[in-house]
Parts: sequence; C-alpha cells; structure tokens
Amino acid sequence: MKLRFEQAAARHPAARSDAAPALRALGLDVAAGEHVAVIGPSGAGKTTLLHVAAAALPPAEGRVWLDDRQPWALPARALRHLRGRLFLAPQVPPLPPRQRVVTAVLAGRLPAISLWRSLRSLFYPDDIEGAWRALERFGVGDKLFDRVDRLSGGERQRVGLARALVSPASLWLIDEPLSALDPTSATQALTALVDAAQARSATLVATLHQVDMALAHFPRIVGLRDGRLFFDLPAAEVTRELLGRLYAQHEHELLGAPAATDEPPPAAAAPAVMHCR
Ligand SMILES: Nc1ncnc2c1ncn2[C@@H]1O[C@H](COP(=O)(O)OP(=O)(O)OP(=O)(O)O)[C@@H](O)[C@H]1O
Ligand SMILES: [Mg+2]
Repeated sequence: MKLRFEQAAARHPAARSDAAPALRALGLDVAAGEHVAVIGPSGAGKTTLLHVAAAALPPAEGRVWLDDRQPWALPARALRHLRGRLFLAPQVPPLPPRQRVVTAVLAGRLPAISLWRSLRSLFYPDDIEGAWRALERFGVGDKLFDRVDRLSGGERQRVGLARALVSPASLWLIDEPLSALDPTSATQALTALVDAAQARSATLVATLHQVDMALAHFPRIVGLRDGRLFFDLPAAEVTRELLGRLYAQHEHELLGAPAATDEPPPAAAAPAVMHCR
C-alpha cells in the first residue's frame, strides 16, 4: 500500500489548545513495498505520524492518502475495510491479560475473517501452526500456549510483533518494536520483521529510538523534530553531523549511533552501545 502525507498537520484531541501541533506541514511519500524508519527525539511526533497513517487520527490540516484514497473522506464501511488492510503495532501491545498467546497472535488475522470465525477462534484457534511459525521467527515459539499476562515485557512485545506476520495487512506501522528487547533479541526481531515485510511486499514504517539499528536495517530514514520533517534520506546519507542536529538537546537519546560517514570516528567517540528505553 502507498502512503502519502501532503502538508499534513495533526493535533491530539486531548492536547491543550495552546500546545503546538504534534505534526506540522508534513510531506511524505512512501511507495508500496518500501521500508522506512522514523527517528527523532522524544516528543518529535513519531507515534503521531503512525496514528495519522493508520487512519486512527485525522489530519487537522493537509491531506493523507492511502493508496490514492483519503481515509477520512470514505464512508464508514469503506474506512473499516481500509483499516483492515493496515496493521498498527503500538509500543505496548494491548493484549487481553488472560488470553493465551496463540489466540493473541491469531487476533492479528481478525480483520480478514468473518465475525463467526473470529468468535470461534477465541475458543478454538484455527491455525495453531501459523501462530507458532510467526512466534518462532521472534524466538518465542515455546510460549504458544502460555497466558499473555505471564510473559515478560520483551516476550509480550514479540507476541505483538508476531501478529503482523499473520495479519492480512499491506501497510505495517510499527511503533518502537525494540524498546523492551535486549540487543540479540532486538536484532532477531527487526530482521524477522523486515524479512517478512519484504516477502509479502508489505510497506513497512517503523519508529525507532535505536538509530544504529535503523541505519543498519532500513534503506530510508525519516528524521522528525518538533513535529516537522527534519530530513528524509537514504540511510547511507545520514551523517553523524545531521544526527547531532536532529537530537540536539536530546543527546542522551542518541547513545551509540554509529558514524554514518566515511570519516574515521573521533578518538573520544562514544562506545557503540544499544540504547533500549
Ligand atoms: N494523547 C495525547 N494527548 C495530547 N497530546 C499528546 C498525546 N500524545 C502525544 N501528544 C503530544 O504530541 C507530541 C508528539 O508526541 P508523540 O507521541 O507523537 O512523540 P514521539 O516522537 O512518539 O515521542 P516518544 O519518542 O517519546 O515516543 C508531544 O508533544 C506529545 O506531548
Ligand atoms: Mg512514540
């Protein structure tokens, strides 16, 4: 699915009236099947961008297009159908506490199946093997029949990501997929996500605080700051100087970003540590 923002601004309904818009005059074109990482300091508008792209928050100004259609101009039924083709993974997946992992994963498929089948699947999961395969890609296949509320935060996050793999969506919007993961699990999870999106030709837009991971796994990087587009570049062109400006006054969020240029790193460069929030 294609995604296009035209001078899009967004405000949260609960925001104070004097608060600056969460997104301002944002222009962005993402082609079908493209992979884009969105980075930027806390409060930059990354989550808001995903919510607007997911047709969960209407733009206050400008326009948003999903495959040449403006979601908020569609009749309710067509909007529901369109939302069925989107997959939004919030940073903390909203998993019902006493649900089994297998049921939680297969819930990713609900938009594509009938009401009767979805109700039945709550009691009789109908593709246990598919759920297990998705979980295995994230290293948590052994949790298939565990209760969601008995998982660690990182395991729960990976169950949330496994939902994308069973969903019928062609646009994956993934918010901070690595925030609860150790470096090894984070690399495994991001590789699984990117490979699966590629195999299905799904468009992938992910927000990431781990700049080094974004540069290593995504061909295109969008930098946001104060709700505005700060840069939109191929990963190879994102320089350390640019990252320094993107995260100015938020340098602690940039720990471990590698030098993205050919220049040798300065002698006192920070060690390349993973930054998990
Ligand atoms: N539900 C909300 N109600 C009111 N204001 C909000 C809401 N969610 C976010 N905001 C405001 O919108 C702006 C952008 O927030 P957003 O969550 O998109 O940032 P972010 O880049 O995802 O930050 P983080 O890296 O901390 O997740 C911030 O100023 C924030 O305070
Ligand atoms: Mg966020």
